[in-house]
Amino acid sequence: MDTTRNRLIRILQDHKTSYISGQNLSEQLGISRAAVWKHMKALEADGYEIDAVPRKGYQVRRSPDKLSKNTLNWKLDTEWIGRKIIFEEELDSTQLLAKALADQGAVHGTVVIADQQTSGKGTKGRSWYSPAGTGIWMSLIIRPEFGPREAAQLTLAAAVALTRVFRQNDIEAHIKWPNDIYLGGKKLAGILTEMQAEQDYIQHIVLGIGININQTVSEINPDIRNKATSLRIETNKEWKRQELIHLIWKEFENVYSLYIEKGFQEIRDEWMQYALRLGHRVKAATPSTVFEAVFRGIGEDGELILENDDGSTQRLYSAELEWKEE
Ligand code: BTN
Repeated sequence: MDTTRNRLIRILQDHKTSYISGQNLSEQLGISRAAVWKHMKALEADGYEIDAVPRKGYQVRRSPDKLSKNTLNWKLDTEWIGRKIIFEEELDSTQLLAKALADQGAVHGTVVIADQQTSGKGTKGRSWYSPAGTGIWMSLIIRPEFGPREAAQLTLAAAVALTRVFRQNDIEAHIKWPNDIYLGGKKLAGILTEMQAEQDYIQHIVLGIGININQTVSEINPDIRNKATSLRIETNKEWKRQELIHLIWKEFENVYSLYIEKGFQEIRDEWMQYALRLGHRVKAATPSTVFEAVFRGIGEDGELILENDDGSTQRLYSAELEWKEE
């Protein structure tokens, strides 16, 4: 739904280099000048710096890094992701709210995003540390045109989209099978996919993405400090979360269209270019065994391909990979 606030943000965006009068805004939006002024105050409370000059009007000098529904709408130019945004300062888990909303019929592309999660969920029942003000914690609701068998490929495609965004920003991120994003030998981001499906029909997929952005070393949970990192730690600078979020949504749309139009092949090739440890020995742990083999990439379904010491190949849909850095 296009609210007055969203329309106001878009108009201000189009007047980045000039002032727009309160009268003009009130006419375009069909609201009183007093109501325009109230909206401006709300934007300021969200961290926008607004120049209000008598007889000239309003101009936005700076949009904030503070996440809010407004800042997330600011300069948004996606086609379908984020057209509906649910933002909360604090949630137990964006994943839980997104699943509930998806059950109630939330549209394809709806995003649930929180500044902080008190009970963030990782894969395999683990928890995901999600402190306030420093990370991107969001869940995308997808209603795909393909069947449940392809869902794992979508998760791999999401990892490709994230890696593309990092690389476009000169960040040498890699993917650890299946979809952990690594930087400097440590985990930077993770993806959790949860699906509601019948035998051959997906009702919805909730794709949870967690990225450590502006944490310092002391802000990384001590229990995982030796294996987790943030963009700030690796690049020595702070990043604007809201800009990265928009880049990720845009890139996810690109990868999604590529997948729908051409299938998994090209995404799979790209995934392999970003893969950590391709062609090297790894230790693979499944619920029943741990063994060593050479990592040969992913197959047509996105499954893990390993080459055993006797030259035979095995394909696994679920395993954890480990190795010692050389
Ligand atoms: C992993 O364990 O690698 C996956 C982590 C996924 C974390 C994200 S943060 C947003 C969404 N909400 C959650 O509770 N988890 C996912």
